[in-house]
Amino acid sequence: MIVEDKNRPIGFFDSGVGGLSVYARFREILPFENTIYFGDLLHLPYGEKSKEELVGYARAILNFFKSKNVKAVVIACNTSSAQAYDVIKTEYNFKIYPIIQSCAKVISELGYKRIGVFATEGTVKAGKYTEELNKYNSDIIVKEVAQKNWVSIVEGTLNDLEQAKKNIKNDIKEMLDFNPDKIILGCTHYPYLLSELKKYADIDLFIDPAKIFVDYIKNDLSTNLNSSNSIGSEEFYVSDNPRKFIENSEIFYHLENLPAKIEIFN
Ligand code: DGL
Repeated sequence: MIVEDKNRPIGFFDSGVGGLSVYARFREILPFENTIYFGDLLHLPYGEKSKEELVGYARAILNFFKSKNVKAVVIACNTSSAQAYDVIKTEYNFKIYPIIQSCAKVISELGYKRIGVFATEGTVKAGKYTEELNKYNSDIIVKEVAQKNWVSIVEGTLNDLEQAKKNIKNDIKEMLDFNPDKIILGCTHYPYLLSELKKYADIDLFIDPAKIFVDYIKNDLSTNLNSSNSIGSEEFYVSDNPRKFIENSEIFYHLENLPAKIEIFN
C-alpha cells in the first residue's frame, strides 16, 4: 500500500525532553499529524559536544527518520540547529526545519533593538542567533550568554539541584545588565525554567520561540498537511533511560507509554 505523502510522519529530535516544548505546541496546533519524537539521552548534554560529534548524532537520527519514511524533520534543538544543520541540510530529500534559522526572521521583525539570548555553550559558540537576526536586521544588538547547569537542572542530572536553582539569579545578572528589550530562550529545555526565571526577571521579557517555530512549520507545510479527522499517531524513542525521559517530560507533555529505547549510533 502506498502511504499518501500527507500521511507520512514528521520527526522531531532533541538531546532530551527539551524538544517537547516545541513538540507539545505542535500537537496542540496540528493534532492530525503523525509524529515521531527522538530524545538522544545517551549524548546529553549537546551543549558541551563538538561540532563533529553533533553532526554525527544529527546524521544518525536523520537516517533513522528516513527509515521511518518521514515527510519532514523538526530540529527541536538549538544546539544542533546551530552546529549541525548547515552541514547536513542538503543530504536528505525531505524538508528539515531548524529552530534558530526558522524563527530568526519573525523575531527580527518584532521591532526590538536589544535582544538577549540564553543558550547552551555550543549554540553561543556558533553565534547563529546573532548571525541570523542580523541577516534580517543589522541594527539589532544581540548578546548571547551561555549557562552551565540549566539543561542538567531540567534533566535532573545534578547532585545539588537546589543550589543550582539558587544560582540562576547570578546566571542571569550579566544579561540583565545588558538591558535587553527581550531575551530569547535559545535552548528548548529552558522554558521548563520559567517558574524559576520569573523570580528574578519580568516574565514578559522572555521569548519562547516554540510558538513562532510551530507557526512557521505549519505555514511552510500548508500544502502537505494531513487533513484526516482522526488524531495523528505518536511514537517516542530514546537512546537511553526511558524511565527518566517519561519522568522529566511530565511538565510539558504527557506520554501514555514508556518510550522505546533504540540503538541507532554505531
Ligand atoms: N535542548 C537543546 C537546545 O535547544 C540541547 C540542550 C543540551 O543538550 O545541552 O540547545
